[in-house]
Amino acid sequence: MTEFKVKDILLAKQGILLIEWASRHMPVLSQIKRQFEKEKPLADVMIGACLHVTKETAVLVEALTAGGAEVALCGSNPLSTQDAVAAALAEKGISVYAWRGETTEEYYWCVNQVIDHKPIITMDDGADLVSTLHRKRTEALKGVKGGTEETTTGIMRLRSMEKAGALKYPIMAVNDAYTKFLFDNRYGTGQSTIDGIMRSTNVLLAGKNFVVCGYGWCGRGLALRARGMGASVIVTEVDPVRALEAVMDGFRVLPIEKASRVGDIFVTTTGDISVIRKRHMLEMKDGTILANSGHFNVEINISDLNSISCSKRTIRPNLEEYCLQDGRKLYLLAQGRLVNLAAAEGHPSEVMDMSFANQALSVEHLAKKEKMEPKVYSVPKEIDERVAKLKLRAMNVEIDELTEEQEKYIATWEAGTV
Ligand SMILES: NC(=O)c1ccc[n+]([C@@H]2O[C@H](COP(=O)([O-])OP(=O)(O)OC[C@H]3O[C@@H](n4cnc5c(N)ncnc54)[C@H](O)[C@@H]3O)[C@@H](O)[C@H]2O)c1
Repeated sequence: MTEFKVKDILLAKQGILLIEWASRHMPVLSQIKRQFEKEKPLADVMIGACLHVTKETAVLVEALTAGGAEVALCGSNPLSTQDAVAAALAEKGISVYAWRGETTEEYYWCVNQVIDHKPIITMDDGADLVSTLHRKRTEALKGVKGGTEETTTGIMRLRSMEKAGALKYPIMAVNDAYTKFLFDNRYGTGQSTIDGIMRSTNVLLAGKNFVVCGYGWCGRGLALRARGMGASVIVTEVDPVRALEAVMDGFRVLPIEKASRVGDIFVTTTGDISVIRKRHMLEMKDGTILANSGHFNVEINISDLNSISCSKRTIRPNLEEYCLQDGRKLYLLAQGRLVNLAAAEGHPSEVMDMSFANQALSVEHLAKKEKMEPKVYSVPKEIDERVAKLKLRAMNVEIDELTEEQEKYIATWEAGTV
């Protein structure tokens, strides 16, 4: 019998409809699922997954089980689980341990339940599963053949494990595939972060000073979309090249100290800690809105916010008002957790189609490979290109092919000025 722990199994019917809706918009993953159904490349593979439990993740789980795998799943954030989807997965026989609003203790209880299933392959979003295995559950490490990692922050943690010689099995860096970060981090985070801000505040973006902290792939997408909504976008950065790029992309670049005085809405997308802290909060205007779209809830220093506030109220779901000693009010969205997942539904399915196609094909790659060193690996170029080709085909977009003459020309060094 399948074991599971979800908020309410009676939500399953609603969850099944949501999964169907996502699946309609995920043609690449659907095609991989059909191939998996025929070839069963994951027969007898136990997969332990720590991913945001969304309708798109459910479509991925269905593709993996079609390939013969058994999947145990927990959420990768205490606030991102879609309870109806978790219920639907449990009803479909998946061992799922996830509900929205887990405490930190419950969150790690769920991670440990997944480890109890003795995974052969792990799938992570933020590296909490890998880190728990390496620090607290070392007895389960020996059975693990490999893993995948979905996000920038997770890859950073894993690379530092590799550098320290602590990583015990190979990991495929799904985040670093072109067909992942160029679309998921940029257009997915861009759109869904705006969605999270709209759902939790419904404020007008046009005319607001919208501060984006970090001009990486997520920040670029968010800045682009906020500008599209009529906001006046300010970027903060620590990397001179990225800051220059933001300037040339037409954004105002300021240090956070200065941006703090003029911003109306702040969103952190850095993967860094305490990007917005006490001294910045003390400079902010009455009514300022703070949100985070980076992986962990450490980018806005919430204990600083608590320390300068004399009271706190929940205004509406995912919107908390902090009243400062001088009467100014600051508004924090989704408790500083990923606003696009906690206050909205995460990335649109069309984007997750590519991210999760990379996940599914990376899992297949790991399952087929005989021996890999315990290192962080790039997703093979063939997988990236295959995902791009399938997506273009699904979108009815045709492209050109190199002629023989062109192939030869770009491969030679002799030809020059004519
Ligand atoms: N919300 C989502 O659904 C979602 C999706 C993908 C990635 N992420 C997460 O978002 C974060 C950013 O990911 P990315 O792919 O854009 O990373 P990235 O490395 O491309 O960009 C991060 C940028 O932040 C800058 N930065 C670092 N510290 C800073 C600071 N103190 N002030 C200003 N800028 C600073 C870096 O210089 C870099 O340009 C990560 O935590 C990642 O895991 C979230």
